[in-house]
Amino acid sequence: MSISLSNTTVTMNRYVDGKPVTDTEKLQVFRLDNETMTYAMAVTQEGYLLHVYYGARCGEDDLTYLLRLSDSPYTPRILKREKGTFMDARPFEFPCHGIGDYREPCFMIMDEDGMSACDLRFVASRVEKGKPALRQKGVSCIPATFAGEEDADTLVLVMEDAHAGLTVELTYTIFKKLSVLTRSARVINHGEADVRLQRVLSACVDFEDSAYDMITLNGSWARERLLERAPLHHGKQSVDSVKGESSHQSNPFVALVSHNANEEIGEAFGFNLVYSGNFFAQAEVTQHKHTRFVMGINPYDFSWLLRTEEEFTAPEVVMVYSGSGIGKMSRTFHDLYRNHLIRGEWKDKQRPILINNWEATYFQFDTEKLIEIAKQASELGVEMFVLDDGWFGHRDSDNSSLGDWFVYEKKLKGGLPYLVSEVNKLGMKFGIWFEPEMISPDSKLYAEHPEWAIQIIGREMTQSREQYVLDYSNVEVRDYVYKMMRDILDSANIEYIKWDMNRQLTEVGSTSLPRKRQRELWHRYVLGVYDLMNRLTTDYPYLLLENCSGGGARFDPAMLYFSPQIWTSDDTDAIERLKIQYGTSLCYPASAMGAHVSDCPNHVLGRTTPFATRGNVALVGTFGYELDVTRIPQEDREAIPGQIAKFHRFNPLMRKGDQYRLGNLFEDNSFDAWMFVSKDKTEALFTFVQVLGRPNYPSRNIKLRGLAPNKRYRVEETGQVATGKTLMEAGIFVSLYGDFASQTLYLSEVTGE
Ligand code: GLA
Repeated sequence: MSISLSNTTVTMNRYVDGKPVTDTEKLQVFRLDNETMTYAMAVTQEGYLLHVYYGARCGEDDLTYLLRLSDSPYTPRILKREKGTFMDARPFEFPCHGIGDYREPCFMIMDEDGMSACDLRFVASRVEKGKPALRQKGVSCIPATFAGEEDADTLVLVMEDAHAGLTVELTYTIFKKLSVLTRSARVINHGEADVRLQRVLSACVDFEDSAYDMITLNGSWARERLLERAPLHHGKQSVDSVKGESSHQSNPFVALVSHNANEEIGEAFGFNLVYSGNFFAQAEVTQHKHTRFVMGINPYDFSWLLRTEEEFTAPEVVMVYSGSGIGKMSRTFHDLYRNHLIRGEWKDKQRPILINNWEATYFQFDTEKLIEIAKQASELGVEMFVLDDGWFGHRDSDNSSLGDWFVYEKKLKGGLPYLVSEVNKLGMKFGIWFEPEMISPDSKLYAEHPEWAIQIIGREMTQSREQYVLDYSNVEVRDYVYKMMRDILDSANIEYIKWDMNRQLTEVGSTSLPRKRQRELWHRYVLGVYDLMNRLTTDYPYLLLENCSGGGARFDPAMLYFSPQIWTSDDTDAIERLKIQYGTSLCYPASAMGAHVSDCPNHVLGRTTPFATRGNVALVGTFGYELDVTRIPQEDREAIPGQIAKFHRFNPLMRKGDQYRLGNLFEDNSFDAWMFVSKDKTEALFTFVQVLGRPNYPSRNIKLRGLAPNKRYRVEETGQVATGKTLMEAGIFVSLYGDFASQTLYLSEVTGE
């Protein structure tokens, strides 16, 4: 890993009035390298920061020839060049608005005179060991990846708009052992006048060509993060959220991959924004068939007042480069997130197998019923009981009580202390559901503090799931909610929280923010959520936090910074989950995916699948049960101890190992298959799910991946012994009968025979 600074002079040959002219230009060059990737930039004599190269590791050569500074017919003299053409064609690292670059900008301001152009020029650079935390005065916590001095180096490039009095620090961190670069931007107002930030994106990469496919993760409730892949074309292709959270509909992830890229070969450039609010990611194919990729906080309805000496920090973009396919890109994200994003006591630990009462009872339960479920579950080996929605205020359906975080005594006789101690007596941990960002119109909290809901005074407030959203930009609101949460947490031995968020934002106005700062609410809301999650995880370090948002609407890296696991989707159907978990695995590790076995017919789509298949699919993630164990068929109940033993045996391998996707339901919907291989390649678990049976044509050969070619492996279930090379070249034989059937095969290295 190295960060190098150098100077170079490029010679440019041109014709002026038919006569050859030679110009030279002095460039300052910045280069970040590790074993697998190189990222290079150059500063021109006028101080423009240009992108030179991003991709596979290059030799120690001067790469600035890639800038093609001389090949425009309208590039007359240095410093007198045809600026408009130069600005609209050159690759910029952090493009501004209003000075001749008509492509998508990263940075837009509005000064006190109502003027919006800005012009950032390079002024200084510095190199820092390791990776500094992202910070902004007045903000308690900005989630980001972390790394020690031995794991990463950071380059900070300081840019300045002298006219507006603004400094922008662009931060680049290169990781030593992973093909990862992270970027973010921090704006400081050193001027005397207030400035409005109209957009501050986090990163731009101007790619040299446009021969890429764009992969995005799109969906809806109960079908989150389904993969879409399409070639880039002229114009702008984007994904975003304007809902106040990362959303069911799209995810702050994009990959640009070469047309030939598959799991094993081709180039893949993955981008993931460490942010949980409105985001924007766009690839724009320009007139010159270059591609500008930008990512950051969505500029839609965004405006931030930056007074003198105030600062603003844009969230981090994680950039992963793979020269060997999409699979390698995913495994790099997984390693990065498992080691440099997820924190806390549960980071590297096996999570307790839980049973959650949501699909079992919905709102209809009492203490007795819950204890009955917990008791039977504990006898089968389940390790934690999670009490979902409906335990507080007077909540019997989703139409009341959010914000009233005290126990519904009529329903829960003896309160939480009794229930929790009964559950603990069974040898189980106890967890509980909260939706801390919400307020029901029918609640004590709303009766006392209607002004705490997000609203525009005088306008009708839009209800969704009969609830409003609390104004988390207001610290008084956060303090109040947190106090209630603490009282609950301190009242009994609670070891897990499911933090839910079940609606998007509307009428985005705050009764506590001044008029000039109203448009900041979208982002201040997200910062408020981070603040509370930060307090919670700091004050209760042992607590296992699972994020959730109407299923998987907030499955993003910022949430992983606080919670090592996230509920993947309300769709627990094993077959639907194949696609959801596949899409999620593009950048998020299996160890973070909340995955449960539920009862059939499935509550979302009425499908019936074998209990064993439900188990094999949930085994990938954190694993648990979402059913009324007292009422499921006897044979399913009898299968639970076996599933639990399987989880105990294979979870370390899946939690820490490398994931290889072998099937792809988006291309062939008849089967899915995947495997997890231990880092030392001595063992692997292969899973095959046959979505549709094939009459008179049942068997298939699936080529395995990730094994050591020269090691010999024994397949436990069949006794077959073969080299990794054979299993990867010729494949492994599977033959199943029936729709939705599944199988796992365990491979371990054979030594000394
Ligand atoms: C959301 C969650 C579910 C459940 C319900 C409770 O939809 O995704 O798992 O907790 O809320 O209301």
